[in-house]
Amino acid sequence: MYNAFFGFSESPFNLSPDPSFLYRSAQHEEALANLIYGVQSRKGFIVLTGEVGTGKTTMLECLRDFLEAQRIEFAFIFNSRINTDQFFEMIAYDLDLRCQRTSKTEVLFQLNETLIQQANQGRTTVLIVDEAHNLEWEVLEEIRMLGNLENRRGKLIQVILAGQPELDRKLEAPNLRQLKQRIVLRCALDPFTEADTAEYIQARLAKVGMPKQTVFTPELLAGIHLRSQGIPRLINGICDNLLLTAFALETRECTMEMLDEVSADMRLDWPGRRRPPQTQRYGESPVEQRPLYNRGD
Ligand SMILES: Nc1ncnc2c1ncn2[C@@H]1O[C@H](COP(=O)(O)OP(=O)(O)O)[C@@H](O)[C@H]1O
Ligand SMILES: [Mg+2]
Repeated sequence: MYNAFFGFSESPFNLSPDPSFLYRSAQHEEALANLIYGVQSRKGFIVLTGEVGTGKTTMLECLRDFLEAQRIEFAFIFNSRINTDQFFEMIAYDLDLRCQRTSKTEVLFQLNETLIQQANQGRTTVLIVDEAHNLEWEVLEEIRMLGNLENRRGKLIQVILAGQPELDRKLEAPNLRQLKQRIVLRCALDPFTEADTAEYIQARLAKVGMPKQTVFTPELLAGIHLRSQGIPRLINGICDNLLLTAFALETRECTMEMLDEVSADMRLDWPGRRRPPQTQRYGESPVEQRPLYNRGD
């Protein structure tokens, strides 16, 4: 909507996990290197965790690009609220297994054949599961058993589980002890530091044709960091709303007042937030004016 006004070639703060916008923060760089290393060295299980919006799916999309470029076969399961039948059906579909895809026995048989064939050609196969914290125990158990398949050169299938921090806690459960023991690499994504947030915003604007941005002052960048708590998805939401507000007001510079308004619209809460004063309108009793209970109170 505001792209032409600011001279952007495309929307800078889309919410899609688009690798072409990847900002290589030290930790995102390290996570991606770990995922690729884990696959190449046939380590078996790799776990990637991070709070909502920290960039897990974006990392997996980058890995997908790598696997496609290397012509490595993979199955990508992004809907993890599935039962075991659906799990095997999805694998069969993604790996294009020639069998009765609704029969677990047939899928397992064909999968084994395919994995061995791939391994004989010196190739590996990858299973990626996003939102893995939602997986049912039975599905996790099936995944663990897939991890048992190996030949003398290593695991036949590399498994990447990505999910919210609950995933780590889930993997601590006694019945998943065996799976936990097989995890050879773990990476975690934390929110950005203040410097990263500023660079991230600048990098996105540069990508769409504004290499030296003047839309956000340093003070505003610091404000965006505080209110987003360094979570990329929230940074995108805030910046998008700020640009929209500036466009509506026909100005090319965002202000702290706009940030206050956007934060209120997005119902953001952050440490040290000052509650807006409650104004008592004529005829209203002060009791009704008590501030609402807020997260972090
Ligand atoms: N390193 C990064 N570079 C560019 N964009 C990122 C990065 N990390 C996160 N994002 C952006 O933040 C938003 C949320 O990322 P996403 O990968 O969906 O998070 P998660 O899967 O952890 O919830 C997306 O718009 C994504 O493009
Ligand atoms: Mg995600």
